[in-house]
Amino acid sequence: MLLPNKVTQIPYSKQSLTQEDFDAVLEVMNSSFLTQGPQIDLFEKALAKRFQVKHAIACSSGTAAIHLSYASLGASADSVGIVPAVTFSATANAFRYLGAKVIFCDVNPADGIIDLDSLQRILESLSEEQLDHCNFVSPVSFAGKVAPLKECADLSEKYGMKLVEDASHSPGGWSERETSGDCKWTQAACLSFHPVKHICAGEGGAVLTNLTEVADRCKALRSHGIVRPFDDEHPTPWKYEQVDLGWNYRITDLQAALGRSQLGKLDESINARKRIAKRYDEALSAPPFSERIDRPALTDGHSWHLYVIRFKEEGLRDQAYKFLKGLGIITQIHYTPLYHHPYFAKLVGNLRLPGAEEYFAGCLSIPLFPTLTQIDQDKVISELARFLSKH
Ligand SMILES: Cc1ncc(COP(=O)(O)O)c(C=O)c1O
Repeated sequence: MLLPNKVTQIPYSKQSLTQEDFDAVLEVMNSSFLTQGPQIDLFEKALAKRFQVKHAIACSSGTAAIHLSYASLGASADSVGIVPAVTFSATANAFRYLGAKVIFCDVNPADGIIDLDSLQRILESLSEEQLDHCNFVSPVSFAGKVAPLKECADLSEKYGMKLVEDASHSPGGWSERETSGDCKWTQAACLSFHPVKHICAGEGGAVLTNLTEVADRCKALRSHGIVRPFDDEHPTPWKYEQVDLGWNYRITDLQAALGRSQLGKLDESINARKRIAKRYDEALSAPPFSERIDRPALTDGHSWHLYVIRFKEEGLRDQAYKFLKGLGIITQIHYTPLYHHPYFAKLVGNLRLPGAEEYFAGCLSIPLFPTLTQIDQDKVISELARFLSKH
């Protein structure tokens, strides 16, 4: 049974569920396991196959996945984690959970993706002592556009850094040399299954990796650091051992079933996102938009988690946000550079990175999700035009 959508607002994003998804969850509700049952293994196998990696470790959120990946790769209080300033808190927070130092890297003002010159400068500034420890670079494949993972890998290798892709925004994203999530250039990649993401599991996330030791450590850490080393032939098959200090980051079978059902429709949902992005691109390439708004480059490999426009004139973005909200069109700002937040400002001081500031000043994510209707999309476009005619 599909529930009616009573919401009259146009959100910036939302889950797109079908009858198949409802059935998948209901089947688990009627089964013997609500958590730690067969769905998790099935979901992990399907993820590993889809992303062409040896291991997928599903867990309770994208944040948990990032935390697990950093911890399993050896991050500690001696580590440095280099994070683009424009991302969601989780990319940086997970380093802080482990006591590591966060250094914010600048981004390209056109697309919010990590800036390689800034990364190089940061790497050159690290002391011998810092370089002796297990350090990280965490590029974010922002909005659905894969980050320059090959270049990041080249730089990371030179300085002995580990590389973890935050692929929360970018399942299905690719470029000439990179495919988001495949770990060709990275030690791990992390996914989020929050409802606004490509694959919705309610909440959930996964670590993708080709490194078996890292996968084993992630599996132990997601469940308190506990391992179950003995099979049924052993005299004490019931015995488990806590070998490390972990967390309860387990995903439930209900979530895994929903995630697996959604994963099966990933291509369909990316194609829907691409169609919507193309329609925006066509509309926004003409006046009145073209002189006053920069739009994202329409590349084949973009998987369109977000459609981020950038107002060229200062102050216009915030007025547009309010104007559209008043009409029930919900937009979002992805993201305020993390160093603006009081928590990080206390750690890094009064930092202002030019690329991140320029990007942030004009960015606005306008509605994009697979079930956005043409009527609603046309409303977004025409109200945006009306806004520009008044300002
Ligand atoms: C770039 C990025 N990284 C990490 C996360 C964290 O994912 P979750 O909300 O599943 O914990 C998000 C979620 O919004 C995100 O956008």
